[in-house]
Amino acid sequence: MRRKLVAGNWKMHGLKADLPQVAAIAEAAAAHPGVDVTLCLPFTLIEAGAGVAGAMPVGAQDLHENDRGAHTGCISGPMLVEAGASVVIVGHSERRGDQHETSHDAWAKAAAGRRNGLGVILCCGETEAERDAGRAERIVQSQIEKSLPDGASGEWLTLAYEPRWAIGTGKTPTLEDIAAIHAIARAKLRQMVGDAADGIRILYGGSVTGANAAAILGTENVDGALVGGASLTAEKFVPIIAAAARAG
Ligand code: PGA
Repeated sequence: MRRKLVAGNWKMHGLKADLPQVAAIAEAAAAHPGVDVTLCLPFTLIEAGAGVAGAMPVGAQDLHENDRGAHTGCISGPMLVEAGASVVIVGHSERRGDQHETSHDAWAKAAAGRRNGLGVILCCGETEAERDAGRAERIVQSQIEKSLPDGASGEWLTLAYEPRWAIGTGKTPTLEDIAAIHAIARAKLRQMVGDAADGIRILYGGSVTGANAAAILGTENVDGALVGGASLTAEKFVPIIAAAARAG
């Protein structure tokens, strides 16, 4: 039985003034011990966030594939660990889009996370044009094929299915469409890592809110949620944690 994981992705939001939200979310996480909760913060907030998060792990939203070197503006795994991160997101569609990252980049970054002892949330998901062309399933399969790191196991790896057109738009796929992609992702994982696939959580991400979380988290093969906008305040995020606890 896979425990549900609710991961917040603060993206380029969050200053020290927002630390009380981190603390309040951590308090709610502690009140729901049956659910794993984490917040992926901006780099600048990781250390202070970890300081107020108690037992709740905090993470980052990206890292460089190398551990050190001449890479202006980049952040390495050892830096994240030193700052107090225990998790990192790789291959997020905003990085694939804005920074032109590929599935190969996600693969190398996932390996870097693993090498540094970080839990890795590896994202995949189709664009609206790809879905309209009937290619969503094939795209997700191909992204998993190209980005799944060696030795993938649920002990450190989580997959997140995030249709790009659902991110920050208020639009979500139907529950049937979510179930279909998650089943395909699970089958692809099984093909690649055998029985270890059973331990790998597959999160859904894209416009998850307190209003739709219960239905989404109750869908087959949905092992949690990756939440952007609705993770920025305890008021919006705690109902999602509570829904995960009920769906447990
Ligand atoms: P959203 O973002 O919940 O604001 O749609 C999800 C994500 O990008 O991780």
